[in-house]
Amino acid sequence: MLHVVLRMIIKTIFGYRKGNMMNGMTLTQFIIEEQRRVAGASGEFTGLVNDVVTACKVISNAVNKGALIGVLGSAGSENIQGETQKKLDVIANDVMIRSTQWAGHVAAMASEEMDDIYPIPPQYPRGKYLLLFDPLDGSSNIDVNGSVGTIFSVLRCPEGVSRPTAADFLQPGVSQVCAGYAVYGPSTMIVLTFGHGVNGFTLDRDVGEFVLTHPDMQVPADTQEFAINASNERFWEPPVRRYVEECQAGKAGVRGKDFNMRWVAAMAVEVHRILLRGGVFMYPKSTAESAGAGKLRLMYEVNPMSFIIEQAGGMSSTGRERVMELQPEALHQRVPVILGSRNEVERIVEYHQAG
Ligand code: F6P
Repeated sequence: MLHVVLRMIIKTIFGYRKGNMMNGMTLTQFIIEEQRRVAGASGEFTGLVNDVVTACKVISNAVNKGALIGVLGSAGSENIQGETQKKLDVIANDVMIRSTQWAGHVAAMASEEMDDIYPIPPQYPRGKYLLLFDPLDGSSNIDVNGSVGTIFSVLRCPEGVSRPTAADFLQPGVSQVCAGYAVYGPSTMIVLTFGHGVNGFTLDRDVGEFVLTHPDMQVPADTQEFAINASNERFWEPPVRRYVEECQAGKAGVRGKDFNMRWVAAMAVEVHRILLRGGVFMYPKSTAESAGAGKLRLMYEVNPMSFIIEQAGGMSSTGRERVMELQPEALHQRVPVILGSRNEVERIVEYHQAG
C-alpha cells in the first residue's frame, strides 16, 4: 500500500517536472526569439516587454501577499472616471511606471489610474513606444480574495514626435504592436500577442520566470457559455436581450442547447476563460441616460483584449462595428464590447443588423 502511494507521489512530481521541461521555454527566451524574426530589430521592444513582465511579477507578489502586507482596502481617492481607487490600484500603477520609465524604451504612458498621459521624466531617455495599461483590472475583487489582472497595450510613437501628447495615443486598435494581460489567480499567468498568434505563460515562483505553458491559444468557434452583468438587463438594447433570452431558453428554444453563465467581474479573467474554453463576454451599450456608450475603456481594456481575441481566432465588436477599427476620440473613452467565440459574436452582430 505504502509503495503504491509513494509511486503515485513520484509520478505526480516527475510528471509535473516532465511537463514543465517539455514546454520549458521561458518568456524571456520567447521574446528574444520573436525579436530575431524581425530584421533590424533594435531590442527596444524586447526590453519594454521584459520591463512590463517584471512589473507584473511585482504586482503578482503584492496581490498574493494581500492583507499580510496591508495592501487591501481603499486608497481614499478617485480616478478620472469617478471610481474609488483601491490601495492596490495605486500601487500597481506605480509599479508599472517605475518598471518601465527608466530604460529608454517608452516615450509616454497612459493608464486608467491617471487623468493625463505620463511623459517620461527628463532624467531618462525617451524611446519609440507608447505604453497603455489598466494596472489592476477587476479591482473590486481584491478585498474578497478574488482573481484580478493587469491589461496592457503597446503603440508606436508617431514618427518625428519626441514629446507625445494625448492625441498621439489616439490610434485605432489595429495599430497595436503588442497586447497582453496578466491574471493573478490560483497561478499567475501572462498571455501575449505580437500580432501573430497568442501564447500563455505561467509564473514558476520557485525560479521567478514565466514559462510557456499555453502555446498558440485558440478560441473555440462555438460555445455554450456567456458572460454579462445581468443586473443591467433593463438597460440592454433589443439585440442583446434577444441573444441572452435565446441562450436562457436552452434546449427547448431556438438554439436547441443549454447555456451556462459566468461573471467574474474582471475582464482579464473573463477573457482568459474564453480563450481556454470558448464563450462570449458582453459589456454592451446601455440605454440608461447616465451610462453613455458603455462601461469599459477602449484604449487600455477593450482594444488590447480585442487584439488578443482576434489573434486567437475569435471576434470582437461593439455590436455595430469591429472594435479594432474604431478611431479613438479620447484617452479614457468607453465603448460597448461583445467578444469571444466567432460564431456567437457573428450571431449577435447579425441581431444588431436586423435592428
Ligand atoms: O474596470 C472594468 C471592470 O472591472 C472589468 O474588468 C469588468 O469586466 C467590469 O468592470 C465589471 O463590471 P461590473 O461592476 O458591472 O460587474
